[in-house]
Amino acid sequence: MKGIILAGGNGTRLAPMTSVVSKQLLPVYGKPMIYYPLSVLLMGGITDILVIARPQDTALFQRLLGDGRRFGARIDYAVQEFPRGLADALIVGREHVGDDDMALMLGDNIFHGHDFASILTDALKNNVGATLFGYEVSDPQRYGVARLDHNGTVVDVVEKPVDPPSRLAITGFYIFTNDALSVAAQLVPSARGELEITDVIRHFVERGVARIIPLADGFAWLDAGTNESYIDACNYVHAIESRQGRKIACPEEVAYDAGLIGTDELRLSARLFRSSEYGMYLEQIVERETA
Ligand code: TTP
Repeated sequence: MKGIILAGGNGTRLAPMTSVVSKQLLPVYGKPMIYYPLSVLLMGGITDILVIARPQDTALFQRLLGDGRRFGARIDYAVQEFPRGLADALIVGREHVGDDDMALMLGDNIFHGHDFASILTDALKNNVGATLFGYEVSDPQRYGVARLDHNGTVVDVVEKPVDPPSRLAITGFYIFTNDALSVAAQLVPSARGELEITDVIRHFVERGVARIIPLADGFAWLDAGTNESYIDACNYVHAIESRQGRKIACPEEVAYDAGLIGTDELRLSARLFRSSEYGMYLEQIVERETA
């Protein structure tokens, strides 16, 4: 299973914050936004990851994350010249994915909830076509939305519907079998000029091999794409972290918990960030684990 983080796009809704900085490099309370999707992939045990970014941002992501060894992973980088749409990830990432299946994660999506690691592991293991994660929202018009039959099977997906068939938004984490690559290669741009991920999903729906896992009440799914949702995400992370004393989406910690790195690697990262609260947090984990 290969991982892809889609961290391109122009982030126009966050301008001027994004005039010179990629949205996915902006901080979401104490860490860069891309740490959140990276942590999701690591939590699922995915260690071969491609980060797709704009030409001017790729070197910055590379400086931030390096070759991935710090997280017990291998991270490669690819350039998306123009924001041609989410399904373009499966074209830009084609070589990286090779003959494998893939987990595609949007760079501005934040997932947090009880038992997510086992939900993820299960979903990755049992995927037979497309596996999606659904989240009930009050404003489905803003998202790709799933239409379900009475058994809960996905029978259609609609992008930004004026008249939504349900309130179940499709979140920015998608698992596909390898044939998604050839589906994406044949897509034509939609009326808004993008290669739509819903068109890829529809292909799997028509074959009856698309599944949607509804994320339970109490689970948090946030995208940080507008001023409002960005500050909500920052406040959410702050509230949870200060209340519980545990970080959300600390990739070093996630990698350690998943058995991808040991205390030696944790200690190196703790030193790298030693004067920050983040570094001290890592140091505390090392002390606890080696006591
Ligand atoms: P969007 O939020 O749909 O697009 P955007 O980030 O360009 O923002 P805006 O609409 O404000 O201009 O993208 C969702 C995620 O997917 C985000 O992390 C950026 C990424 N993305 C790409 O990497 N390439 C693309 O071609 C598109 C459309 C999005």
